[in-house]
Amino acid sequence: MDTPIVILNYKTYLESSGLKALELAHDLESAANESGITMVAAPQAADIYRISQEASLPIFAQHIDAIAPGGHTGSNLINTLIDAGVSGSLINHSEQRMKLADIAEVVRLCAENDIESCVCTNNIETSKAVAALAPTAVAVEPPELIGTGIPVSQAQPEVVEDTVKEVKAINKNVKVLCGAGITTGDDMKAAMDLGADGVLLASGIIKAESPKDALLDLVSKL
Ligand code: G3P
Repeated sequence: MDTPIVILNYKTYLESSGLKALELAHDLESAANESGITMVAAPQAADIYRISQEASLPIFAQHIDAIAPGGHTGSNLINTLIDAGVSGSLINHSEQRMKLADIAEVVRLCAENDIESCVCTNNIETSKAVAALAPTAVAVEPPELIGTGIPVSQAQPEVVEDTVKEVKAINKNVKVLCGAGITTGDDMKAAMDLGADGVLLASGIIKAESPKDALLDLVSKL
């Protein structure tokens, strides 16, 4: 995983669904090319294949289930997501929480299939717990700040700084991202100054009048 990194979680906003998901992927692609910063799209499962065929950028799934092929109606199977074009996945997002045993299994499946695993956490303690699973990255996101536009890197800098310190003490190879309320270049610079390897964000870009301009502003102070 190249750092600094920006992962855009498309969630289920209409502005980032269907054909708009593809437009947003093109915005990420051109902002990445212009800035030289790695930008990843994390669209809904149904939009992954089209984006992988028509755009050129890394794609993460929003969720993978801890299952093997077989009878699991409605689930997201890692094999199919990889076939569709993902090179990684978010795991345990605060809007899609998982049991610890399932987080461990999906991190293992990602490693076995040679794709990136980015486990989301809500605080320093859970970040320490998942660091022991050796995912590619931990993304700490205080749930109360998600979708508020109040940036974790400025409102709760100690959460970012201490997560970096504690996670790296357990496994220095695990990248640390932060998210919740991240929108501007100042927000991302503050995150990087606190030791983060990148950011995970959504509404500040997806709801912007020009997502591409918002992405370029996000990385303008690095
Ligand atoms: O996964 C990113 C996310 O939960 C943060 O959302 O809208 O505060 O950037 P947002």
